[in-house]
Amino acid sequence: MTDSQSETSPEQQVTAARKAFEQEFERFVRFTGGPRVLDGLNLEQALAEERALAEVRIRHLGKKSALAATKKLIGRVAPEERSAFGQRVQAVEAAVVSQLDEAEAALKSLIESQQIARESLDVTLPGRRPRYGHRHPITLLRERIEDIFVSLGYAIEDGREIETDFYNFTALNIPDNHPARGTQDTFYTTDNFALRSQTSTVQIHAMQRRGVPVRMIAPGRVFRRDTPDPTHNPMFYQVEGLCVDRGITMAHLKGTVAEFLKRMFGADTVTRFRPSYFPFTEPSAEFDFSCFKCKGSGCRICKNSGWIELGGSGMVHPNVLRTVGVDPQEYSGFAFGLGIDRMVALMYNLDDIRLLFENDLRFLEQFE
Ligand code: FA5
Repeated sequence: MTDSQSETSPEQQVTAARKAFEQEFERFVRFTGGPRVLDGLNLEQALAEERALAEVRIRHLGKKSALAATKKLIGRVAPEERSAFGQRVQAVEAAVVSQLDEAEAALKSLIESQQIARESLDVTLPGRRPRYGHRHPITLLRERIEDIFVSLGYAIEDGREIETDFYNFTALNIPDNHPARGTQDTFYTTDNFALRSQTSTVQIHAMQRRGVPVRMIAPGRVFRRDTPDPTHNPMFYQVEGLCVDRGITMAHLKGTVAEFLKRMFGADTVTRFRPSYFPFTEPSAEFDFSCFKCKGSGCRICKNSGWIELGGSGMVHPNVLRTVGVDPQEYSGFAFGLGIDRMVALMYNLDDIRLLFENDLRFLEQFE
């Protein structure tokens, strides 16, 4: 027995233990005596109170509690007082346990009802309307182009954005010393691999995979080391077209491009071809169409020329056909390629194609 314990009687120690408990339990008294007193507590507060109550239980009923210490005194009190003292200790313990249990049960039921309320779902509440996204203007135009060519019997091909030297250049009859192969013009990833600089690469894949005859268009992204300005981006979109069969001539090319542009910009659209050069077509031509705004009389969009440049085209070079195992004596074909970004700019009267990739919603939400 310690000195301090010897100074107070066992009876006093029990009273002190009881008092200490009552003092700490005071804040939990509101949880006893009926559910009414629980009003006003939210779930987080109730959970915090439950944890605090568990600590009070350990402090006052645990092995190191004052009450536990008084139990050890039972054997030491005079034999004639022992039974009464023992009963008193037990009574105090029972009272403490029952107060704690009552408060704990009330808190638990409060927590449970709060949890149920939180998890319940009011099915009569109006739902949140999903926000619809917008298609990007380039996507809108790409889909229109696809619809027109599908209705002309063309298939749509997917290409690869990273290409080997073979598909990007060699198979397209681009000689070793051609400037397009240089690092100033093309983004190389590792040796022999480059981001494709034109969708013409898909011509090769399509003929290898589908054989001939073939009619396909291939929309997709291409990459060039161009410095961004109002009409250039280092990444932009092209659509490639390819038609190879027996007896295909330049007349088919002109008819197809003219029909496409009429469906795109109106029946009165006029198309013109100008001689040009591409390594993978012979003969080659660039094509323009009469300005959809001024119908050829000259305006800001066509820079007063009455014509708008659209892309390159030509008859597939015999070397390209040979590379994919097609006999140029038996088959011939035409190909064309046009840039979508500048076409979008023309259609929507944009004065800078860089707007298309700035991801400014104030700009993008104006379409569709
Ligand atoms: C070609 O890329 C050829 N592959 C087209 C072709 C296909 C010819 C099939 C023959 C047969 P060109 O380099 O001119 O051609 O590019 C075609 C179009 O891409 C241009 O008319 C232009 O609209 C667009 N373009 C070119 N560079 C950029 C750029 N930096 N930013 C945006 N658009 C561009």
